[in-house]
Amino acid sequence: MTDTIDDVTFDQMRQLVGLVDYDATKDPFPVKAMDAVVFTVGNATQTAWFYQAAFGMTLVAYSGPETGQRDHKSFVLKAGSARFVVNGGVAPDSPLHDHHRKHGDGVVDLALEVADVDQCIAHARAQGATVLEEPHDVSDEFGTVRMAAIATYGETRHTLVDRSRYSGPYLPGYVSKAGRARKRLFQAVDHCVGNVELGRMDYWVEFYNRVMGFVNMAEFIGDDIATDYSALMSKVVSNGNHRVKFPLNEPAIAKKKSQIDEYLEYYGGAGCQHIALATNDIIGTVVAMREAGVEFLETPDSYYDDPELRARIGEVRVPIEELKRHRILVDRDEDGYLLQIFTAPVGDRPTVFYELIERHGSLGFGKGNFKALFEAIEREQERRGNL
Ligand SMILES: [Fe+2]
Repeated sequence: MTDTIDDVTFDQMRQLVGLVDYDATKDPFPVKAMDAVVFTVGNATQTAWFYQAAFGMTLVAYSGPETGQRDHKSFVLKAGSARFVVNGGVAPDSPLHDHHRKHGDGVVDLALEVADVDQCIAHARAQGATVLEEPHDVSDEFGTVRMAAIATYGETRHTLVDRSRYSGPYLPGYVSKAGRARKRLFQAVDHCVGNVELGRMDYWVEFYNRVMGFVNMAEFIGDDIATDYSALMSKVVSNGNHRVKFPLNEPAIAKKKSQIDEYLEYYGGAGCQHIALATNDIIGTVVAMREAGVEFLETPDSYYDDPELRARIGEVRVPIEELKRHRILVDRDEDGYLLQIFTAPVGDRPTVFYELIERHGSLGFGKGNFKALFEAIEREQERRGNL
């Protein structure tokens, strides 16, 4: 296959996010890709600037009062195949202000690109999903988009988008808007993690299996790891070819207050916890983002000096001293290895944060790093007085 996804080739995408082969004809809810991660924030104008200046994203489209959208401003940003949409209320009575009052800055929609919106909605409805928007066409001079939406955890939704008959910059109602050219720092969204309430992880795993035909991936964090190191339980669902991966976390009863409990308290319920961005040069990305002021979680020296870690990870593409200098984590499984690092929360509330991930064959999520990650997050939590 040679098709490209916004100048990321299929083979590059296979390496970036760890694609596997599967038979789409047997899929009751075939998903092509993440369409967009949609945020509601307190100040979209400045948040859009942040993603350009600090995350190297390119502004591509806009909708707001100047284009006839009087309720809110909406900025569309891209990096390779990754698309973020940042919305903030303008009209004093905009419902976006109510959402923001309750949740703070957060992800409201994990929009998915599908080939057949009606087929997906029919299947989801038959499986008991809440259909928030019935399938409908939206058109302008660039063509027609077919859309619908279903509810998932908390107040989060999955908008389904068929944009195969559309050539505009994002959706009807948006105009092209060019920002300053930036050096691209990542190429794709690798996975989006949902935090759900205690005891609800299996419910949502089953929801994705049943409603969206997602499959369970091998990686999970159970009781054994949870109690001592992670304070969370985690399972991962994905669409058939692993292009779209949704890890689902719930709090675990641990020795200290769980980071998931902290999220649930400050977000006001279940929601999207972190978005992992795939890069083919994690060191370059981390250097550029740090330079722009993005804060990353610290990892203790002891993590890198541990002979057990060195034995476990073996040879990776850069010397471990370089990983140590940049505080990048490394994990290996039977398929290969991955490099990863986590930012501090990017908003005011201790909720949404980012991960950078560089995959070399591994289809995992860094389970082996839970102990190190847990210790790092715990130190941050302690500084906020929430431990
Ligand atoms: Fe992750």
